[in-house]
Amino acid sequence: MPKLTPPLPKVLQPKPQRPGSPNGKPSPADAALDAGISVVDWIDERTSLSGGIRWMLFRKVPRGVNWFYTLGSATMFAFLSQAVTGVFLAMYYRPDAQGGAYESIRYLTDEAFLGQFVRSMHKWGSSVMVILVFLHMARTFFFGAYKYPRELTWVIGVVLLILTMAMSFSGYLLPFDERAYWATIVGVNINGTGPFIGPYLSDFLRAGPEFGATTLSRFYAIHMMLIPGAMAALIGAHLYLISKLGISAPPWLRVEPDPDPQSELQPERVEV
Ligand code: HEM
Repeated sequence: MPKLTPPLPKVLQPKPQRPGSPNGKPSPADAALDAGISVVDWIDERTSLSGGIRWMLFRKVPRGVNWFYTLGSATMFAFLSQAVTGVFLAMYYRPDAQGGAYESIRYLTDEAFLGQFVRSMHKWGSSVMVILVFLHMARTFFFGAYKYPRELTWVIGVVLLILTMAMSFSGYLLPFDERAYWATIVGVNINGTGPFIGPYLSDFLRAGPEFGATTLSRFYAIHMMLIPGAMAALIGAHLYLISKLGISAPPWLRVEPDPDPQSELQPERVEV
C-alpha cells in the first residue's frame, strides 16, 4: 500500500525557479520588490484604487500641447512645497501676540537647524505660487480653456486664486514684526472698504472691532487650517474635472476631417 503523506501547505511548497536566477532563489532586491508588490496588490484588492489612478494618469492628451500646459502642475507643486515647508515651520511657531510669535520666528531663523532655509523656501515659495497661479490662469484664458464644458473648472480656479491670495495675506502677519503688523492693519482696513460685506469681513479678520491679541490666533487658524483644507479639497475637484473632461486642445489646432462622414472625428463633432 502506498504511503500517504498529507499535502504541504501552499506556502511551504517549492516555488518554480525564477527565470534568470541561477540557484532559483530571488536576489534580496527581487525579494524586496516582490514584498512591495504584494503589499500594493493587497491594498488594491480591497480598494480598487489602481483603477482610479489609471483613470487619472493614463489619459489621452490632444496633439500640440506644449510647455504652457505644465503651469497648472507647477502651481500644484508650489502648493505641495508650501504645505511641506509649512508643517516644519509649524513645529516651531507660537501664535502668541505678547512677543512669543516674534521670538519663535527669531529662534527658527537664527538657531534652528536649517530653519532659515526652510523659512526662506516658504517665503519665496509663496511668491512663486502667486506668479504661477496667474500664469496658469492666463494660459487657460488665452487658450479659451474656460469655455464649454470647462466652465466649472474655471470657476473652481477662480476660488483657488482668491484662496491663494488669502494665504499670502494671512501668512504675512505671522512673523509679527513691525512690517507684518502695520501692513496687516492697512490690508484689513482696505478690506473694510469693500461693498456690503467689507465691514463684516474686516471685523471677522480682526476678531473684533480692534486689532488685538486674538487677531493673530485668527490669522494663524485661517492660514494653517481653514484655507489649506479648502484648497486641498478644491484642487482635488479641479483635478477630477480635468481628468473627466480631458485637457483642451491648443486653439490653433484644426481637426482633420475623417473620410468616413459618420465618424465621431468630424470637425463639428469633436469637442476641443
Ligand atoms: C492652486 C491653484 C491651481 C492649481 C493647483 C491648478 C492645477 C491645474 C492643473 C494641474 C491643470 C491641468 C494642466 C494645465 O492645464 O496646466 C489645470 C487646468 C485648468 N485650470 Fe487650474 N489650477 C489652479 C488654479 C487655477 C485658476 C486660478 C484658474 C482660472 C481662474 C484655473 C483654471 C483651469 C482651467 C480652465 C483648466 C483646464 C485647462 C484645459 O483643459 O486646457 N486653474 N489646473
